[in-house]
Parts: sequence; structure tokens; C-alpha cells
Amino acid sequence: MSTGKGTIKLGVLGSGSGSNMQAILDAIENGSLDAEIVLVLSDNPEAYILERAQKAGIRAEVIDCAGYKTRFPDASQAAVAEQLKSAGVDIVCLAGFMRLVKAPLLEVFPQRILNIHPSILPAYPGLMAWKQAVQDGARESGCTVHYVDAGMDTGPTILQAKVPVLVDDTADTLHARIQVEEHQLYPDAIRLVWKDIQSNASTS
Ligand code: GAR
Repeated sequence: MSTGKGTIKLGVLGSGSGSNMQAILDAIENGSLDAEIVLVLSDNPEAYILERAQKAGIRAEVIDCAGYKTRFPDASQAAVAEQLKSAGVDIVCLAGFMRLVKAPLLEVFPQRILNIHPSILPAYPGLMAWKQAVQDGARESGCTVHYVDAGMDTGPTILQAKVPVLVDDTADTLHARIQVEEHQLYPDAIRLVWKDIQSNASTS
């Protein structure tokens, strides 16, 4: 694991479409993020994120969760940690990854696992935060990139972006507006975290 020199090696974990991974890739391709995605892992063999990664020539693999639908067993987390470590990953990005990360993975990448969540945390943690916001009559929502700890969407915030909730919003239209911000926010947050790693390394 590098202490903040050169190109950042990223590992991405996702369960769904992977539009955030695509946004990170786009930022790399347009030169605004000096990084490389070296490994993409998904707990869902059908997830489009795997196809996107393969199309981009990135190593993409399925996580074996031992048949559990929502749990992320310790042994699977330890195996993922090993895969990420041997790929030389510096920062792990959860991008629509729907299982809770715990000690076996957190301990291998302390302060180096990030998550993007579609709300202004601490509001609306958990599943389908955009739907929760619409149902709650919220006037504002947005997205948060935060460090991952053992809780559900509870780690320290890195960056947030707000969007209005419009009177005629459905869950889908609000999510689409939030995602526009997410795609900007995640590359920004990665740059910020890398800067922080660099400055910690130079003062230690
Ligand atoms: C994103 O909106 C992300 O914030 C959310 O899932 C979507 C994944 O989209 N994550 C969570 O709700 C995590 N609690 P993507 O697969 O297109 O990046």
C-alpha cells in the first residue's frame, strides 16, 4: 500500500450498475484523476458493474458470499482483503456495494475504504435513501462520500453535495438528480483522501 506517491491504485466493490465506477473511470480517462482501477469485485454475478469493468479491460471478479443473500461472511471479507492487497490497492471504493463491511476488511485498509451514499448523512442511512427522502417530504437531499467504519453509513464524512427535492419528484427522478452529483463527488473525494494520505506520510 503506497503512502501517497504516484498513481493511486483503486479497488472498487459494487453490487449494481456501476455508474459511479464509470464516473471514476471517466475522470481517470480525462486526466482529472491520477489513478488506475486495478480490480473490480461484485457480490452479484449479474451486476452490470462487472460487464463495464470487463469492457474497460479491468480485472473483474465475483465475491463468494457462501450463499448468503445479504450477509458478508468474515471469511469472504478476509478473501476480498487478500485479493485487494495482492492487487496493490491503495484505496477501496464502495460504489453501490450493498453488504456491510466489517473488521476482516476494515483492519487491512484502515482509513482507506470509502463509500458513496445517496443522502446527506446522517439523514436517511440504509437502503434506497432517495425513496426515503421523497416519502419523508424532504426539501433537500444529496450525496455523501465518507470513510467506512463498522456501522451502516456512519463513518466520518469526506464530502457532500446537496440537491433540491422538487414537488413533483418521484424516487427515480430524485435519484437521477443525486447521481449527477455523485459522479462528480466521488473523484473529488478520492483526490482529497489521497492528498491527506500524502500529507500524513510527509509529517510522520
Ligand atoms: C448509488 O446511488 C449509491 O449512492 C447507492 O447505490 C447507487 C449505486 O449506483 N449506494 C447506496 O445506497 C449505499 N448505501 P451505481 O451502481 O450506478 O454506482
